[in-house]
Amino acid sequence: MKRDVIIALDFKDGETALNFLDKFRDEKPFVKIGMELFYSAGPDIVRQVKARGHKVFLDLKLHDIPNTVKGGMRSLSGLGADIVNVHAAGTIEMMKAAMEGVVREDGTRPLVIAVTQLTSTSEERMQKELLINAPINDTIIHYARNAKEAGLDGVVCSPLEAGMVKEACGKEFLTVTPGVRFADGDVGDQVRVTTPRKAKEIGTDYIVVGRPITKADDPVAAYRRCMNEFAED
Ligand code: C5P
Repeated sequence: MKRDVIIALDFKDGETALNFLDKFRDEKPFVKIGMELFYSAGPDIVRQVKARGHKVFLDLKLHDIPNTVKGGMRSLSGLGADIVNVHAAGTIEMMKAAMEGVVREDGTRPLVIAVTQLTSTSEERMQKELLINAPINDTIIHYARNAKEAGLDGVVCSPLEAGMVKEACGKEFLTVTPGVRFADGDVGDQVRVTTPRKAKEIGTDYIVVGRPITKADDPVAAYRRCMNEFAED
């Protein structure tokens, strides 16, 4: 498994996203398409970005009854995505259904990862609003183990949680981590952040980087800096 930087294409429409990708002439970054872009541009944006030679993490976080998730996964997998995801809160049965739906007719499939607890969920809110009476780190590990039991490839988590997930689920179990900032950069609304270099030390597999690249004066230079800090040996 090769470490890689995934750029979050959090843009309002397809044209803006494709104009941004035009800046990259010498490399084809791995990109993440989330709800904002997918819901405005439609499924064809995935095909277009794939046709340009990029790998795509389709971050739509499915969470529904098992049969619906199975069908949803079949549709998303057919678009050619390289990574797709679900909420682990949907239960092991739902995640197993996702794994059935995701296999393409030719036997290939994208990697499937689970969201454990969203990094925007605090321990206090989880306990008070969701009535989950456990420390948040225990639920993250428990959900990660459930995902592994269902046959998933890994989880999305904060970079600061990646180490404990690897300890609980094994080194091969993938961790994909947003919340990455340069040491001299703006933190914005992210709370638990780390640098690309530190993320590499922690041992995460993929970092998802949005604004530090998309809002940089020179996005290509910012992407290269991320790659240098995180992905080079
Ligand atoms: O701009 P920034 O680097 O904060 O972008 C991070 C990306 O990762 C966004 O697309 C955000 O939705 C996503 N994400 C996150 N925290 C999570 C899950 C996804 O920041 N727990």
